Amino acid sequence: MNLEEIERQAKEEISKASDIQQLQLIKAKYLGKKGYITLALREITKVPPEQRREYGSRLNQLKEFVENLIRQAEDRIRKEKIAKEIRSSWQELTVSLPKYAGAIHPITQTLQRIQDIFVSMGFSVEEGPEVELESYNFDLLNIPKEHPARDMQDTFYVNKEGYLLRTHTSPVQIRVMLSKKPPIYMIAPGRVYRRDDDPTHSPVFHQVEGLVVDESANFKHMKYTIEVFLKEFFERDVPVRFRASYFPFTEPSAEVDIGCLVCGGEGCRVCKGSGWLEVMGCGMVHPQVLENCGIDSELYQGFAFGMGVERLCMLYFGIDNIKLFYENDLRFLRQFRWS
Ligand code: DAH
Repeated sequence: MNLEEIERQAKEEISKASDIQQLQLIKAKYLGKKGYITLALREITKVPPEQRREYGSRLNQLKEFVENLIRQAEDRIRKEKIAKEIRSSWQELTVSLPKYAGAIHPITQTLQRIQDIFVSMGFSVEEGPEVELESYNFDLLNIPKEHPARDMQDTFYVNKEGYLLRTHTSPVQIRVMLSKKPPIYMIAPGRVYRRDDDPTHSPVFHQVEGLVVDESANFKHMKYTIEVFLKEFFERDVPVRFRASYFPFTEPSAEVDIGCLVCGGEGCRVCKGSGWLEVMGCGMVHPQVLENCGIDSELYQGFAFGMGVERLCMLYFGIDNIKLFYENDLRFLRQFRWS
């Protein structure tokens, strides 16, 4: 083989080598003791003296060239091997991990559904702080100093004088009436706190407050609004009744019941034999509360309502222990896939 041929052939073989062993054989074939290039170097004696210099330098170039090609090929093969290892050890985590897809917490779903219904009726969604002024939580809502709701038994007080953890979302009514001019059509969802703890009461729970203040807002409007909401929420034509009641911030006040979802009104363990389930409180905003917020009670009337989100969620799904919402047991949570 002449030198051109050795060069061409070595180039081709090296470029095709796919592992180190192959490359070593090729190396031996050209550069080993009996390799083409080694043999060609030995044959220099056969070359006419005047051509030896050129032949020798040509051969040395070739030797260097092939050595270089082999080093590059070694590098290439090593990189390919690593890439192959990475490819074969790569795990498709998105396929193997989530045997169960996540679900939105039932309380969050319930809050979202309540909001959707009121937003569709034109209500805005307002928020207030959970650490609230005692005056907004009680005084301006007409809840007098000696009212049992203020008792240390019910309310979590904080270290700062005049502040507490809000016991209901009603203080958001005060905040909105103090900062906005009527007409007001709002709801206020949020977390509230009470010193309560049993299967149907949790020290932290959620309420949605509603408030309408307008020139002619009246009891019929309130009844209609609440009835439409309840039918939408429970996705059926539930019977609704308004029972006279008392709240310091409304006059007249009522409690709202729906026909028992379990027995249909016959009387059962869930409705304690009455055939009715209480779902919220409501009433016409007390004129004094409007005045406390700088709204002229001669010009404006208001109605308000407040509901417990956990309670509505428990009734909707037939859940009998409020603690299930907070224990984060996946076997419980996985069952709620509305959205
Ligand atoms: N704030 C009351 C509670 O926590 C619920 C309530 C009743 C809110 C009547 C209202 C209402 O806005 O009009 O028990």
